[in-house]
Amino acid sequence: MKKIYVDLKSNSYSIFVGHSIFSLLPEILAQKKLNKNILVVVDANVEKLNRGKIKTLISAAADKHNVYLLKPGENSKSYTELNKIYSFLLDNNYGRDTLIIAVGGGVTGDLAGYSAATFMRGVQLVHIPTTLLAAVDSSIGGKTGINFEKKKNMIGSFYQPELVLIDTEFLETLPKDEMVSGAGEIVKYAYLSDSNFYSFILENISGIISGSNKQLEKAILNSVAIKAAVVSQDEKESGLRKILNLGHTFAHALETELNFKIKHGQAVTAGVIAALNLSNILNLLPGRHLNNLLQLPKKIVLPRKLTGLNNENLFRIMLHDKKNRNGKIKFVLLSEVGNLLLDVEADKKYVFKALDKMKKDITC
Ligand code: GLY
Repeated sequence: MKKIYVDLKSNSYSIFVGHSIFSLLPEILAQKKLNKNILVVVDANVEKLNRGKIKTLISAAADKHNVYLLKPGENSKSYTELNKIYSFLLDNNYGRDTLIIAVGGGVTGDLAGYSAATFMRGVQLVHIPTTLLAAVDSSIGGKTGINFEKKKNMIGSFYQPELVLIDTEFLETLPKDEMVSGAGEIVKYAYLSDSNFYSFILENISGIISGSNKQLEKAILNSVAIKAAVVSQDEKESGLRKILNLGHTFAHALETELNFKIKHGQAVTAGVIAALNLSNILNLLPGRHLNNLLQLPKKIVLPRKLTGLNNENLFRIMLHDKKNRNGKIKFVLLSEVGNLLLDVEADKKYVFKALDKMKKDITC
C-alpha cells in the first residue's frame, strides 16, 4: 500500500492507494480515531457488488452504522437527494459525532461530501472512490456539491476528508465506459505533468483503459500525487489549482448541453481537445506541437453525439461558468506540457473555431 499526503495544515490527510486494501478500513479508521457513528453513503450498483464486504467491515469499525443507498447517475446530485440524506441522518439520531463514508464515484463523493460539509455545520468525511475518475480526481481536494437548475456543481463547498482510500480492486468490475471516463482526467494530468509522464500515458493509455494492473497503478499514483501537490499549494483555487480545470470550461458546457447524458471524463477529453485547439488558434501553442499533443486524446473513442452540438448553445452555457470574472469566460490553456496558462480570454469567433476543430478531431 502506498500513501500520499495532502498537506493542508489542520486539514491535512492521507490518500491510501493499493490493491485489496478496503479490508484494512476498520484498522485505518481506528488508528485515526475517527467517529464511530457511521453513515455509509454508497452507490447502489457498488453496494450490490460488495454487499457482504461493506456491511462486515463497517460493523467492525462502528458503534452505530447505517447504509444509505444512492441511485446511480448525475440526477442524484440534487437538493432532493441532499434533503433525503439530512432527513435520514436526523431520523436515525446522528449528531455532530458522525462519520460519513462515501463509497462510489464522483456523484456519490460530491453529494455525500456536501452532506458532511453542511450537516450540523460539518461532520467527518471519508472518501472511498470506486471509479477511476473519482480515484484520480474527484475524491481528492475537497470539492463537494450538487447541481442546481441544470448547472453543474453550482452549490457546494470546499470540505476536506479525513482520509481517502483507493482500492484498485473496485476498478476491476467497472464497465469500459467508466474506464474511458477516468482516462479523461488522467489525460488531463499528463498535460499538467512533464514529458516523462506524458510519454508514459501516451504509450499506455489503452492498457490503462483495459485495466492492466501495473500501468493503471502507475497512472493513478502519478495523477493522485500531482493533484495532492497542487491542492496542498492552493486549497481554495485562488491561483495554481485552476490548472486542474484544463478542458473543464468546454467539458461542463458539453455535459450540460447533453443533459449530462455523457460521462464527465469523456467530456473532459473533448474539452482538452478544444482547449489545445484554442491555445493554437490564439498563437499560444505552435501548430507542430498541437498535432503532437492531439495524439493522446485522439486515442480515446468518444460519443458521436458530441460532433452535432450547437456552438451558440455551448457558448451561452460557458458564459455561466463559475470560473468567469467580470462576465468574461476564463480558459485554462497550454503552451507546452507542464506549462499552463490561466484566465485566458478569447473572442467568441475563436471559441467557435476551437469547437469546430474539436468536432473534427474527436475519434468516434
Ligand atoms: N477537478 C478539479 C479540482 O478538483 O480542482
